[in-house]
Amino acid sequence: RPDRRQRERLDMQKRHKPEEQAIEILRGNDRGGYTVPTPGLYPYQWNWDSVFAALGFAVFDRGRAWQEIETLFEGQWADGMVPHIVFRKNDPSYFPGPDIWKSNTDPRSSGHSQPPVAASVILTLAKTGGKDDVARARRLFPKLIASHRWWHDYRDPDRTGLVGIIHPWESGRDNCPDWDIGMDRIVVPDDLGPYHRRDTDHVDADERPTVQQYDRFLTIVKFGRECGWNHRKIAAEGPFFMADPGVQFTLMRADRDLLELGRLLGETFDEGEIEGWIELSQQGALSMWNGDIEAFVARDLRVGGFSTALTNASMLAFYAGAGTGDQLGLLAGHGREILDICEYGFPSWDPRHEAFECRRYWRGPVWSVMNYMIAIGLEEHGYAGMAERLRNDCRRLPELSGFYEYFDPLSGEGLGGPDFTWTAAIYLALGRGLDPALAKV
Ligand code: GLC
Repeated sequence: RPDRRQRERLDMQKRHKPEEQAIEILRGNDRGGYTVPTPGLYPYQWNWDSVFAALGFAVFDRGRAWQEIETLFEGQWADGMVPHIVFRKNDPSYFPGPDIWKSNTDPRSSGHSQPPVAASVILTLAKTGGKDDVARARRLFPKLIASHRWWHDYRDPDRTGLVGIIHPWESGRDNCPDWDIGMDRIVVPDDLGPYHRRDTDHVDADERPTVQQYDRFLTIVKFGRECGWNHRKIAAEGPFFMADPGVQFTLMRADRDLLELGRLLGETFDEGEIEGWIELSQQGALSMWNGDIEAFVARDLRVGGFSTALTNASMLAFYAGAGTGDQLGLLAGHGREILDICEYGFPSWDPRHEAFECRRYWRGPVWSVMNYMIAIGLEEHGYAGMAERLRNDCRRLPELSGFYEYFDPLSGEGLGGPDFTWTAAIYLALGRGLDPALAKV
């Protein structure tokens, strides 16, 4: 369907170098202090998208980079949670919008969070910047602490060292088969009501979740809304509660980065509290190890079952500093085999597994933001070749296919939304050494 926007994009590609295009995408997706991930499909401010967007802005406008994270934290709840979407104005092109979530907050937002990557990106900005960067990091520091405390408190109520997620969307890997075991147990109520999803207005249905999956996604939202987003109750009794290697590992990394940031800024804070989280999470993470497939995988926290394949989130163990040397060695071996199969890495589901789908989102395709973090961890653990490969793929893919939301690991075709903020941001950040493992900042 070559539409007006597609034609404009092709014109832009002819006119500009990829780096200039990436900057134009960030500017074009700016809605005044915050960016949308892509126009149409995602017309609001998304949590981890904005944090990664800041890395891209930092390449050409540091002030704007900070503003992106500051506006995200304007949506922070009183209990510390940073929601996964901040709704600044109503946009009927997206479903489920603010009237479905009914967050009862100002600004309105969704009712759960997303992978906590802010402390890590803020540390990178603070270390690579000047006085203004340090001042702005300082203002955000107490908010970061509150958001980490929220994860450890509300999402690990029994202090197991493993945080849970209450919705697949909270993982940021919305449609991954990791959630199938938890999703299969969800009973869709008769009064869920009719609804009109909007994602398939923008993107081919064969790249999006099925109707049955969507009904279950909305069943969880209904539960949350009806209990007034009481997160104690949702964690204890909600329809879905799973451990996610993506959230667990980004949080473990972010806890370490938060501690380092506090020390760097010379803040007075309870270092012991953060050290306690780090230690406990190391223990908790071990219970995600699935010996049969030799990787850390998602687990259903209600009934204990494991997911069945290695994902790009499993590969974040290096980034987190989780697991034993033996476990990391096994993971690296699998990583190599998978990269031999895929022309472009790292796929969001193991291509050796029968459920692999190279085009359906989070069931196979490649995401730049995941590669960015995986590569940092691999580099730090001495797997420089694999890290380099993944960084290169983040540059090669948009150069080949445009700045799409995600890519087919076999063909490199761009999929999902076009002119995507975080794909452009990571492209810029990697081109300018905004990678903590490389810059040795
Ligand atoms: C999809 C992704 C999620 C992302 C959002 C906006 O829902 O799964 O990770 O934050 O799009 O880009």
